[in-house]
Amino acid sequence: MKALLLLATVSVAVAANIGPSTGKVVCYYDSKSYVRESQARMLPSDLEPALSFCTHLVYGYAGIHPETNKMVPLNENLDIDRGHANYRTITNFKTKYPNLKVLLSVGGDADVEDPQKYNLLLESPQARTALVNSGVLLAEQHGFDGIDLAWQFPKIKPKKIRSSLGSFWHSIKKTFGTTPVDDKEAEHREGFTALVRELKAALNLKPNMQLAITVLPNVNASIYMDVPAIINLVDYVNIEAFDQQTPERNPKEGDYASPIYKPQSRNDLLNVDAATSYWVQAGAPGNKIVLGVSTFGRTWKLNADSEPSGVPPIQADGPGEAGPYTKTEGILSYPEVCGKLLNPNHQKGMRPHLRKVTDPSKRFGTYAFRLPDDSGEGGLWISYEDPETAGQKATYVKSKNLGGVSIVDLSMDDFRGLCTGDKYPILRATKYHI
Ligand SMILES: *[C@@H]1O[C@H](CO)[C@@H](O)[C@H](O)[C@H]1NC(C)=O
Repeated sequence: MKALLLLATVSVAVAANIGPSTGKVVCYYDSKSYVRESQARMLPSDLEPALSFCTHLVYGYAGIHPETNKMVPLNENLDIDRGHANYRTITNFKTKYPNLKVLLSVGGDADVEDPQKYNLLLESPQARTALVNSGVLLAEQHGFDGIDLAWQFPKIKPKKIRSSLGSFWHSIKKTFGTTPVDDKEAEHREGFTALVRELKAALNLKPNMQLAITVLPNVNASIYMDVPAIINLVDYVNIEAFDQQTPERNPKEGDYASPIYKPQSRNDLLNVDAATSYWVQAGAPGNKIVLGVSTFGRTWKLNADSEPSGVPPIQADGPGEAGPYTKTEGILSYPEVCGKLLNPNHQKGMRPHLRKVTDPSKRFGTYAFRLPDDSGEGGLWISYEDPETAGQKATYVKSKNLGGVSIVDLSMDDFRGLCTGDKYPILRATKYHI
């Protein structure tokens, strides 16, 4: 009997170990998708098929009023009750998905008016109080479960990739390489710690309000984030370690936008492993670290001088042309990328499809490219995430005992199922591996 009981206990323990995972899946919802056109327009009802996979839904983005320092909706017409009441529509999903936490995110590189205000606010206790009080009120009044600070810190300068391209970078360095990005780094670091502390204290006065931090792409956490001081105040930190290389920042060179590990002869710090390791080494518990996975590709034009093999880093000629849905240079949503891979070149006047190059080492990611035609047109190089590489990121998270993944964002995943018929393939692949 005793042996039987022991056996039972052991099998329960084993079952618990392989049972449903507790990893976070933080789903970003970019409300800008509401006002895109045709196939790219995502309405709240399009979110439904995603929500059973998400532990968190993050509404992007609120902004900061440059004069009052209050947290404000960036699109009043859409967000609040006297407009389309989209805040409330989104938080109302909790009645159907009661375990879902819905947070309101501020910043996120969406608040483009007067970008200096993010740094200035950190320097003033009064300004911080204005933000904290208005933010808690805005979140509470619209049924949110907390706030995500996707703080718009100054970005690091674009980095030199490798020495063989030195002459180009030498000239860049001469122009702006030595000027500091932020001459009050220490003050802003302290101000951010104070902001996190003050916001946490205010949220604590309300029942069950969460606080999260998002480290935006190319923000140097080791400058601005005092990990031991803030990590116990937040529910999780979402590290957006993608866009390490973008066509805006690095117009002349295409490269992996979000490698897990350092590709040969690149900068040591510009990869997922370096970004997450910084937090771990600074003392953050692994379960508070969430890794951001992007659902879009970064695109560059190739020209006659680009290496025909397509191997990155590759000489490029600025951002690739805008996609049919997202209509923005240098970026393609996952369904736009898959369309370029799948479309056979049967129609007259259509460009040939792209050649996809996967990475058997699972360390750097996938890219796809097409060389320019004889007239020098049509060359394209894309670094992107697909369900397979997104799954590899989730596997990385799991192997390092980190807290989960975030999907940035749902509107750029294939929410209509255009690629294979499955809706949200990137979200599903990460969820499956976490
Ligand atoms: C971030 O800042 C640290 C400390 O100032 C510096 O050593 C490091 O090179 C920076 N990282 C990047 C990617 O620029």
